[in-house]
Amino acid sequence: MTLIERDLGTPAPRGASRDAQLTQVELEIDGQPVRVAEGTSVMRAAALVGVDIPKLCATDRLDAFGSCRMCLVEIDGRKGTPASCTTPVAPGMKVTTQSNKLERLRRGVMELYISDHPLDCLTCAANGDCELQDMAGAVGLREVRYGYEGENHLHLEKDTSNPYFTFDTSKCIVCSRCVRACEEVQGTFALTIEGRGFNSRVAAGFKGNFFDSPCVSCGACVQVCPTATLTENTVIELGQPRRTVLTTCAYCGVGCSFKAEMQGEQVVRMVPHKDGGANEGHSCVKGRFAWGYASHPDRQLEPMVRESIEDEWKKVSWEEAIAFAATKLKAVQAKYGQNSIGGITSSRCTNEEVFAVQKMVRTAFGNNNVDTCARVCHSPTGFGLKNAFGTSAGTQDFKSVEYADVILLIGANPTDAHPVFASRMKKRLREGAKLIVADPRQIDLVRTPHVEASHFLQLRPGTNVALINSMAHVIVSEGLVDEEFVKERCEPVDYTLWREFVTRQENSPEAMEAHTGVPAAEVRAAARLYATGGNAAIYYGLGVTEHSQGSTMVMGMANLAMATGNLGRDGVGVNPLRGQNNVQGSCDMGSFPHELSGYRHVSDDATREMFQELWGATIQAEPGLRIPNMLDGAIDGKFKGIFVQGEDIAQSDPNTVHVQAALRSMECVIVQDLFINETAKLAHVFLPGTSFLEKDGTFTNAERRINRVRPAMRPQQGKHEWEAVCDLANALGHPMRWNSSAEIMDEIARLTPTFAGVSFKYLDEVGSVQWPCNEQNPTGTPIMHKDRFVRGLGKFTPTPYVPTEEKSTRKFPLLLTTGRILSQYNVGAQTRRTKNVEWHHEDLLEIHPSDAEERGVRDGEEVTIASRVGSTVLRAKVTERVAPGVVYTTFHYPVSGANVVTTENSDWATNCPEYKVTAVQVSPGRTAATVELDHPEHRLGALVRMANQIARQWSADPTADAIASTAKHLETFWEHDMRVDLARAIESGSVTVDEIVVQAMQRLTVHA
Ligand code: SF4
Ligand code: SF4
Ligand code: SF4
Ligand code: FES
Repeated sequence: MTLIERDLGTPAPRGASRDAQLTQVELEIDGQPVRVAEGTSVMRAAALVGVDIPKLCATDRLDAFGSCRMCLVEIDGRKGTPASCTTPVAPGMKVTTQSNKLERLRRGVMELYISDHPLDCLTCAANGDCELQDMAGAVGLREVRYGYEGENHLHLEKDTSNPYFTFDTSKCIVCSRCVRACEEVQGTFALTIEGRGFNSRVAAGFKGNFFDSPCVSCGACVQVCPTATLTENTVIELGQPRRTVLTTCAYCGVGCSFKAEMQGEQVVRMVPHKDGGANEGHSCVKGRFAWGYASHPDRQLEPMVRESIEDEWKKVSWEEAIAFAATKLKAVQAKYGQNSIGGITSSRCTNEEVFAVQKMVRTAFGNNNVDTCARVCHSPTGFGLKNAFGTSAGTQDFKSVEYADVILLIGANPTDAHPVFASRMKKRLREGAKLIVADPRQIDLVRTPHVEASHFLQLRPGTNVALINSMAHVIVSEGLVDEEFVKERCEPVDYTLWREFVTRQENSPEAMEAHTGVPAAEVRAAARLYATGGNAAIYYGLGVTEHSQGSTMVMGMANLAMATGNLGRDGVGVNPLRGQNNVQGSCDMGSFPHELSGYRHVSDDATREMFQELWGATIQAEPGLRIPNMLDGAIDGKFKGIFVQGEDIAQSDPNTVHVQAALRSMECVIVQDLFINETAKLAHVFLPGTSFLEKDGTFTNAERRINRVRPAMRPQQGKHEWEAVCDLANALGHPMRWNSSAEIMDEIARLTPTFAGVSFKYLDEVGSVQWPCNEQNPTGTPIMHKDRFVRGLGKFTPTPYVPTEEKSTRKFPLLLTTGRILSQYNVGAQTRRTKNVEWHHEDLLEIHPSDAEERGVRDGEEVTIASRVGSTVLRAKVTERVAPGVVYTTFHYPVSGANVVTTENSDWATNCPEYKVTAVQVSPGRTAATVELDHPEHRLGALVRMANQIARQWSADPTADAIASTAKHLETFWEHDMRVDLARAIESGSVTVDEIVVQAMQRLTVHA
């Protein structure tokens, strides 16, 4: 059975705050007494007592619209038959939902709809899941008096331009749900109803097809469409799903809940779960559609070993692989010492899998050399927030943004990196909240439909701390501090010291302008708005943390929030937008070399004692090695073995040349992953991992929400990842056993005070919970630090601005900064193996027109980008999104090697790499020193782009002339050796990108 979510027709009314008590209204519906909150619609009130009024244009995901006239009711004392979806309840109201008159009216409306609708229910993809079909049944429609011969829309063509869903206009009833979903839920405004009356129809963008419109493929329109007009291609291909598994997206830190709708072990579609605490029924293109990588032929399903990285891989049984790995690790430790090996946990894995790896390192390896990939993203968040407030986590839940009046967004690009949260944020901004953006690059939110930032502080890369100090200077010197909050909630001496520090003239916006490049008046205005505009919330991303002063900046933001009293309630706070799905969880689970789970230092005797007693092993009291120390140790010949869980450090860590050299110098590299990635190419043991569809465990998202990840299918390679880790620990001589991942969570709860109340059983009951969840907070903690900070009094810390050593010079005059794009995810290992490559098939270098002109760089042409550590080639995109002196790229493709040029600079407190600032030079064309770019993947990308372009062109204009002219184009294209790539790719059947090419070619053939 699939899980059907009940639709109450219209949304619940919202109060001014989450705890607001709404006035209750009593009325009668069909003789039943009903008591609901003021502002509730009659339709929703009826649904709440089990009376489902027929409807077509209404859904509880969208504001009532009142266009279809199906939901008519009678109300005592009122004339006519009002629409129940747009009529609010009133005290004493008496409503009738069923009468002969109403039935007649509804049947008449339905008759009109059906007379202009294809009668192909039996062969329609939505058969059994179609609201039009259901409503026709509900109103008892048996015949259509008007016949089907008159003017109709049945001849309209399908739009198949989107790789994931089809728009079959002939089935559209013009209910506007899709248009409203795109506006209200997603906030993209890609759709409109064009024409009037009979000619009304849904249109995507100006070019008339979804692919070329501003559509971001979030799927919200598909989800709300009551007919088969907008349908997932997988449903068209496979038919309706038969069972549902509730699980969590494995991409970003938003942690959206999904219903995996299945046929046996085949995913038919992923549908965002309405009760998901993080997403409330919304999704982005990655979570909703980009799951095909899990069954991609590139996936490696058998364990493999080899003596040397020069040897061919040998496929072996699990037993042989584990024995081989254990023997090698033991040999390394025997030769180089107990501390010569370590492990890296992955923020892509579940809490349970991460916990297992850190336990294996601390017990079976016998050292604390465990670190996590959060080291290279959000470790400064942990450090900075713990220092200020006492907890290494964000202060709010996502819902809190609905109560913010001012949003200060620093170093984050939510519409690309955290899209579902961005939609929530945009909704609040459309309601009138003000936005301040601080970023070196003009992100979409600076100006996007119906949203415009009040202040865009386009600072130079690396000057965040200068900016935050100058904002603090304005707040203190202009008397905007919330003195009462500071007096009651913060350490007085620290506050006095900080106050003295920020008021110094050197921290004024005028003095800092020379560093930041942001006009002082703009900084002053933004600071005033933040301090006086009502509830002010800070949201930030890797543009804050991945700097040499990442931790300083986190403390700087915490200072600002405390000084203005913006903590401890709805609509405020300091909120990291975490990159990967389980960054928060992997940190919580004790993956840092100095901390056990729950952020307790390894030197704390009582904590260590608790773990030692349960684990039956001695835990070292000294912190172990961080990732950069492990890699440096490898180069120095002291660190010789590593277990890498689900992380491609050879591609994602900075200065990849250094990382690869370190891996090459090790004697035992064990990689547990889905694919043979760049790190696995340098490994001796490959242990196949599980995709999120096979995992059984939990992820913790950016708002500390612990979500269940439930297996939709069995592990395709025969074992859960934690089972392989247990096997390795056992083979190394330390007994480690659990019967299920639920037992691992029980162990986590037993050892970690903030998780004490968490269990799979509890999560099954409540859906999700935000830690701390324990005796004091039995139902979890959406908002932290309400009455007091976890550390007691909040701690102000002076944050002197220390310019990074990475400065532009004559040789490297530009500053490179990096980020993500919506359709791709991190190093692209997953998304590159999906149809998402249609949107982004290569990393581009954004460069300002003046810098481009100075260098003779032209849009779309190749450029060489060189830093003091390396060089690579990218295609240029000339744009004013970046300021003069700044260039920007993404890092989704190994072939572009963006991290080849990033340096080894890192945050002073946590060693988080300074990805966001690299001094570079850009020159047109290639130089001899650049990496080899004649990579099939690159050429294949170009091929895909061209094939699809032509296919779309022909779909839009299938005339003989158009075909002839583009065919000529195509001929030239075929002449090139790309044809060989295509043939090879199709022959090997190895990448999803091939399927796209094939599809595009099929479309061409059809048109030809
Ligand atoms: S596409 Fe679907 S949701 Fe949009 S107007 Fe047509 S029937 Fe309604
Ligand atoms: S998929 Fe999302 S962005 Fe695209 S049209 Fe539909 S609602 Fe709008
Ligand atoms: S916003 Fe993040 S968690 Fe949600 S669907 Fe998209 S990638 Fe997945
Ligand atoms: S459902 Fe009320 S008018 Fe359409």
